[in-house]
Amino acid sequence: MKPLWRLNKYLYKYKLYLFLGVVFTFISNFFVIIPARLVGIAIDYVVESFSYYQVFDDGEVVQEASRSEFLKYILIFGLLMLAMALLRGLFLFLIRQTIIAMSRLIEYDLKNEIYAHYQTLPLAFFRQNSTGDLMARITEDVSKVRMYLGPALMYGINLIILFPMVIGYMFTVNVPLTLYSLLPLPVLSVSIYLVNNMINKRSEKIQRSLSGLSTFVQEAFSGIRVIKSFVREKDSANQFQKASEDYKEKSISLTKVQSLFFPLIMALIGLSTILTVYVGGIQVIEGAIGYGVIAEFILYVNILTWPVTSLGWVTSIVQRAAASQSRINEFLDEKNDILSTEHLEKEINGHIEVQNLSFVYPDSGIRALDKVSFEIKAGKSLAIIGTTGSGKSTIANLLMRTYDATEGRILLDDHDIRSYDIANLREQIGYVPQDVFLFSDSIANNIGFGMGKSLDMAQIEQAAKDADVYNNIIEFPQGFETRLGERGMTLSGGQKQRVSIARAIVKSPKILLLDDCLSAVDTKTENAILNALEKIMKDRTSIIISHRVSSAKLADQIIVLDDGAVIEKGNHAELMAIKGAYASLYEKQTQQAGEVD
Ligand SMILES: Nc1ncnc2c1ncn2[C@@H]1O[C@H](COP(=O)(O)OP(=O)(O)OP(=O)(O)O)[C@@H](O)[C@H]1O
Ligand SMILES: [Mg+2]
Repeated sequence: MKPLWRLNKYLYKYKLYLFLGVVFTFISNFFVIIPARLVGIAIDYVVESFSYYQVFDDGEVVQEASRSEFLKYILIFGLLMLAMALLRGLFLFLIRQTIIAMSRLIEYDLKNEIYAHYQTLPLAFFRQNSTGDLMARITEDVSKVRMYLGPALMYGINLIILFPMVIGYMFTVNVPLTLYSLLPLPVLSVSIYLVNNMINKRSEKIQRSLSGLSTFVQEAFSGIRVIKSFVREKDSANQFQKASEDYKEKSISLTKVQSLFFPLIMALIGLSTILTVYVGGIQVIEGAIGYGVIAEFILYVNILTWPVTSLGWVTSIVQRAAASQSRINEFLDEKNDILSTEHLEKEINGHIEVQNLSFVYPDSGIRALDKVSFEIKAGKSLAIIGTTGSGKSTIANLLMRTYDATEGRILLDDHDIRSYDIANLREQIGYVPQDVFLFSDSIANNIGFGMGKSLDMAQIEQAAKDADVYNNIIEFPQGFETRLGERGMTLSGGQKQRVSIARAIVKSPKILLLDDCLSAVDTKTENAILNALEKIMKDRTSIIISHRVSSAKLADQIIVLDDGAVIEKGNHAELMAIKGAYASLYEKQTQQAGEVD
């Protein structure tokens, strides 16, 4: 139960709904008890007038008078019962409109709380947890919690109100009859709880089997090209059959338990009825009670049956909700450890000084950077060259504050980067990540992504021109309105990279950080982009990360990374002169390019 305490703030927020729900439940239960009482009275009345009628059997006039009197009473009883049923219906409607509506409102709030919290968490969190897990907690777990806030709470409140009302009243009518007729109900409740647990366990297994099945199908279809070219269709169909067989078996085993459910309820209710009739019958014979009481009690047993059944059901919902909420709490308790020390908000000039920077990835323990130092004067450019895994992207991560350095520091305009307000810092850096990601949206919206709501088409077009992708875009039938992503247009690797560059430069950043973003374009386009960038990056600091020396040539300064350490530093001419790693890389790459030409 304890994890669910966290929801109390929401219950408090919607206390009016909850309060009205309780009041409506209370009122609706009156319209449950009174009709049963009326039935009892009506039956006693019928029996009585029947015996009365028999006594005066021979008097025609009396017979006629008592007959119409009798019918009048019965009609009144009937109308009263109808009115009660309608009123009960009205209040049941109102209960759902308050409590179930409240659960939907809380569900909405909780989802938003979780999503907003996800957004604050650092990248490391998303690396440690799978997307499936993140999604499950905001969807499945939240809906299990909603079952607790809605139906479980509703039936729980009903139970708490109805039980004392009905049972208390039954005791005032007849104590032994009450005890006998209620005898099977605890057994009913416990067995419902046990059966329900079995059903839940099996349903969960089915759920897992189903998600396995859909993952399999999804992968098979996205990899259909590979499946077909390696002629694995039959194999794939066999695997599918095996996976769905598992699903079938689990479903059948669930059906078995479910089939037990209703017979069990019916048997126990039947037992109650028999006991009531038997014990009541004896009392009628002894003259202690009228027939009406038996009818009334049978109705009471029926009234209590559903709440008793729901007791088992509610218990298992609450248990599951508690498990779900504790999973949700686990994520809600995750803290963002990348914080700003001074919340400095100011316009950046662009003087970057990296001092003895070392970094170890917390999850893998890999030492990606080892005492790296360099300096870029405001408005100058730096190229970072190095083989795969040498730590280039890690430098970008640290500059963007996706991670914080293990040792050493980065100074930006003579302030530690950690003292800047994070949003303010990131807004002023135009970052082109290595793995290009574009949203399933129009090209214009993708390029204008960082500008918020106020998209300025002129700026977007200019950025596209600077990134050398404008001509490609206007050739598409829908131009800048072309949709990307699933069911949309697929851009080539080089086009994607250039759209991603346009997205970074559209907000005229103070610092431009390009992580290997020209790897998928040819040397000619690379040159065109670099020349265009040189114009717009005049007076702005830029960092160009690349495998290729051709990207680095134009930079004011070049550093060569190897295994996390800086091995060479200087401009193109200087590095060529020392004939080290850079020079040999240059030789190799220009030679290759020459061969291709
Ligand atoms: N999120 C991460 N968690 C753990 N280890 C990582 C992570 N990202 C990178 N690494 C490791 O850190 C080292 C440096 O990686 P980095 O991405 O900085 O290389 P890179 O120079 O950008 O390589 P490439 O040219 O292939 O992009 C690698 O050994 C890599 O396996
Ligand atoms: Mg990289």
